[in-house]
Amino acid sequence: MKALVYRGPGKRSWDEKPKPKLQERTDAIVRIVKTTICGTDLHIMKGDVPTVTDGRTLGHEGTGIIEAAGEGVTNFRSGDKVLISCITSCGKCDFCRKGMYSHCEPGGWILGNRIDGTQAEYVRIPFADTSLYHIVEGADFEALTMLSDIFPTGFECGVLNGQVKPGETIAIVGAGPIGLATLMTSQFYSPAEIIMIDMDQNRLEVSKKFGATKVINNSDGKAIEKVMEITGGKGVDAAIEAVGIPASFDTCQEIVAPGGRIANIGVHGKSVSLRLEKLWAHNITLTTRLVDTVTTPMLLKTVLSGKLQPKQLITHRFQISEIMKAYDTFGNAAKENALKVMLTNE
Ligand SMILES: NC(=O)c1ccc[n+]([C@@H]2O[C@H](COP(=O)([O-])OP(=O)(O)OC[C@H]3O[C@@H](n4cnc5c(N)ncnc54)[C@H](O)[C@@H]3O)[C@@H](O)[C@H]2O)c1
Ligand SMILES: [Zn+2]
Ligand SMILES: [Zn+2]
Repeated sequence: MKALVYRGPGKRSWDEKPKPKLQERTDAIVRIVKTTICGTDLHIMKGDVPTVTDGRTLGHEGTGIIEAAGEGVTNFRSGDKVLISCITSCGKCDFCRKGMYSHCEPGGWILGNRIDGTQAEYVRIPFADTSLYHIVEGADFEALTMLSDIFPTGFECGVLNGQVKPGETIAIVGAGPIGLATLMTSQFYSPAEIIMIDMDQNRLEVSKKFGATKVINNSDGKAIEKVMEITGGKGVDAAIEAVGIPASFDTCQEIVAPGGRIANIGVHGKSVSLRLEKLWAHNITLTTRLVDTVTTPMLLKTVLSGKLQPKQLITHRFQISEIMKAYDTFGNAAKENALKVMLTNE
């Protein structure tokens, strides 16, 4: 079969690899139907994720059809249509029993990281019973592929941890796929004001279509002043960080209102400075989280009912054999006006 293989920092290839086989009784082999590329894959390509080694098939998002299931798999059989979670969970360890699948002892984020991932014609999924979700007849594979990672991430790490409430004023710093998924799912809770901050004017225009009430282009570095102006000097109830750099974390620290929450989503490679000399007296809450994908069943229902329309984030479509080109497009997101690129394995 063919797979997108990481060959060390800056190097990747679309290569022939052996088709994966069942290794444990709880494994399933899935034939990929749709997959996509994540911002985290670009972090990996830069060499920022040391657990990813030369020869690894990348990808942690996708939908497909079960090709084979181990004898210990009771919930799925071959031919079933499935959504693959970016987080693998055994369902049995202490962390899984707390609903914290991200820290599952034998699982967690392993796909396209410690084991071969979904940017291939086939993938092996460990603990299939608790790491896959059924796709019902007639449901849209492309829409559901958005639920492997970005929607649970925006919702769990941003909206739930940010405790967004009706009538509140919130700000989302970063209007990439994750920031936009946060914007869309925050509206389950009807905040009164949603301020989106980015430097990419196209992404801000998209944000307006998806429900942002105010957008701020931070190219001039004046986002903080503008948020304070909009909020009459008070700041926002929830400041959600969806970039992963010190500057965007600083924006959140400066704009959070007394009693507010800073919900960090971004993957940070560098240390940030916490302004405790100001924040200690402000009754704020700061949260961090690796997505657990514990809300996937709920998000699936909102997509099936049409309440949530994640397909709107797909801007480009390719055959999986064109994945090298798809990486170039996604890697030049600002120039290409790219959000999510959808890859089809026919
Ligand atoms: N916590 C988790 O479990 C988890 C899961 C998936 C992704 N992530 C992380 O979430 C972050 C966002 O992901 P994405 O795919 O949307 O990334 P992205 O790179 O597509 O989007 C980031 C956006 O931030 C904007 N930006 C850059 N600097 C800014 C600044 N100073 N102020 C405002 N905006 C700024 C960029 O223009 C871009 O549109 C990444 O760090 C990603 O690795 C975290
Ligand atoms: Zn991801
Ligand atoms: Zn576990």
